[in-house]
Amino acid sequence: MSNILVTGGAGYIGSHTVHQLTQRGHQVTVLDDLSTGFRDAVPEPQLHICSLFDTEQVTHLLQRLQIDAVVHFAAFIAVGESTQEPERYFTNNVAGSLSLFSAMAAAGVKKLVFSSTAAVYGNPLSTPIPETAPIAPVNPYGETKATVERTLEWLDRCRGLRSVRLRYFNACGANEAAGLSERHVPETHLIPLLMKAVVTGQPVTIFGTDYPTPDGTCIRDYIHVDDLAKAHIAAIDHLLSGGPSEVFNVGTGRGFSVREVLAAVEQVTGRPVPHVFGPRRDGDPAELVADSSKLRARLGWNPDHSTLHQIVASAWPSQQRRWA
Ligand code: UFG
Repeated sequence: MSNILVTGGAGYIGSHTVHQLTQRGHQVTVLDDLSTGFRDAVPEPQLHICSLFDTEQVTHLLQRLQIDAVVHFAAFIAVGESTQEPERYFTNNVAGSLSLFSAMAAAGVKKLVFSSTAAVYGNPLSTPIPETAPIAPVNPYGETKATVERTLEWLDRCRGLRSVRLRYFNACGANEAAGLSERHVPETHLIPLLMKAVVTGQPVTIFGTDYPTPDGTCIRDYIHVDDLAKAHIAAIDHLLSGGPSEVFNVGTGRGFSVREVLAAVEQVTGRPVPHVFGPRRDGDPAELVADSSKLRARLGWNPDHSTLHQIVASAWPSQQRRWA
């Protein structure tokens, strides 16, 4: 078993991944500045509160703990916010990553799993989207991730840093048994907001009903956070066994419309979702569905928590408590 450092491990996908890595017997340390993460999402002895920008301290931590591989989540993730504050996004997501990579170079750590996003594809020409589709982000958030991805390609060539870049589609669901959940502040994601409407009675706005999709609402590929976490386990195993740098989409390959997700929430909760119809949200592509055949073929990954019913049912207990 290996020594793994997880940056941003107190966040949503990070904490679910830390849980699975720990269950697999790895020695896991979390580096998080708690700017958006939650102290209680990580067992206290595993948490190391530190800024990614403190290259010296990160270098010492990597050396002291004899880290074998890093899983790098720490980043700002709100697409809308990134269009309001692009400088803050480039500083945090790109410069923060460069500080980490410098520390890894100084400490001689040569394996990394990187959180990337379907947002690197922008408005795709067709779906399902393969990894070979053009990289053409349409917002600063996606651009920061694409920039780090390109940096990693150079660090492979120049420094022998082997990385797996995972391009997530729509992360959702929760591991209720592990006490983990989704709680972004402010919340912008569809499933928590549908559940908030159920609990509070305040209607959620459906953004756009005139998309070129069968029911006029956007289609997304919703992937359970535990299946995403499982992709990180597979990526770590790949790197630790000497595998080369790779890029993979992580999605189910099946898309659901906003109306279909709303219907699933009504079915699971047994209550109506109060909703109103509004205009399109800026920057939302009509349809984003992953071609995840590469991840399945190369790393033997398969989603097993990601039917729409499983996703919604797993999210409901924590979202019900959250909005009550
Ligand atoms: N939606 C609504 N009403 C809401 C919130 C969302 O109708 O109140 C719709 C959106 O318009 C979209 C769908 O629900 O069609 C999903 O929206 P989310 O905000 O839950 O997720 P996104 O698809 O916008 O974004 C996610 C991640 C991003 C990532 C992106 C990649 O949150 O970090 O996928 O495509 F960049």
